[in-house]
Amino acid sequence: MDSTKNKNTEEQSDSRASTRTHIPVLLNETIDALDPQPGEFFVDGTAGEAGHMKVILSKIGPTGKYLAIDWNKLNAERLREEFKDDHRVRVENVNFAGIPELLRGEKADGLLLDLGFSSGELEAGRGFSFQKDEPLLMTYSDEEEPLYKVLKRLSEKEIFEILKLTGERYSRPMAKAIFEAERKHPVETTGELVEVLQKAVPGRYEAGRLNVGTRAFLGFRIYINRELENLNRILEATTDVVKPGGRVAVITFQSLEDKIVKEIFKKQAKEGKAELLFKKPLGPTLREIRENPRSRSAKLRAIRII
Ligand SMILES: C[S@@+](CC[C@H](N)C(=O)[O-])C[C@H]1O[C@@H](n2cnc3c(N)ncnc32)[C@H](O)[C@@H]1O
Repeated sequence: MDSTKNKNTEEQSDSRASTRTHIPVLLNETIDALDPQPGEFFVDGTAGEAGHMKVILSKIGPTGKYLAIDWNKLNAERLREEFKDDHRVRVENVNFAGIPELLRGEKADGLLLDLGFSSGELEAGRGFSFQKDEPLLMTYSDEEEPLYKVLKRLSEKEIFEILKLTGERYSRPMAKAIFEAERKHPVETTGELVEVLQKAVPGRYEAGRLNVGTRAFLGFRIYINRELENLNRILEATTDVVKPGGRVAVITFQSLEDKIVKEIFKKQAKEGKAELLFKKPLGPTLREIRENPRSRSAKLRAIRII
């Protein structure tokens, strides 16, 4: 197996259950990169629990404007309630890939994407955590088809491809086991999926360093939500969304996503459409990792539109 792939999902072990409230990741670094100024208009494609949002709102002041987006209905409803008296804030419950249509030609001074799920979503029974037994949804949005339904029609080869993408070395036996289990007794909960995965791999899976669900859950989450496609679509449209001089910051938690951000930003810089704000991605300090272990795999990349 290639070492990049191996590294890829070692980083993505954050679908472990957490009871902590959401702590915004790389907060200072992100605010420095976005550099929000009084009166500016910001678009937040992943507003989540408003961690970054509150700081940006404090910087853009009373004349600023904020479009807060979250695909998860519950998160969007909470944001609507929390900011209902703030005339600067508009909340939309949509996929960030649709931001250009939402803006209808209006351009922002800044765009933030902080990918993945929020801590609250791990607790919300959406099937993101392999340490809980919940319905196997794996979707951010209730309008998307849940994994337990999709699994019923995927071929063994398709399941294999989904798992392989994450560098899972047991993709083949895992795919076979899931496919066969579906024929006998459809897999409908996260607990059942973990059980099937456990039976497909050696007892000491990855020498005990990794949960058997780490890579598989990541692969299914990416597939079911079309995460790489959504990211590609919005990043290809940055110059339609953000005006010249405006900034775009993206926080990723695994290397499949970081690779997309890196390549698209590099291409835009080469084409003279954007300027990289820093060459290498910024990561968390040891102190941040200590205080918020979820930040350990975070990478921030940012550009300024020309
Ligand atoms: C890591 S959290 C963001 C946390 C936020 N920055 C904060 O500090 O509270 C990511 C959020 O993005 C949402 N999300 C994931 N994919 C999305 C998509 N394609 N479009 C819109 N929201 C999405 C999730 O529901 C989640 O609430």
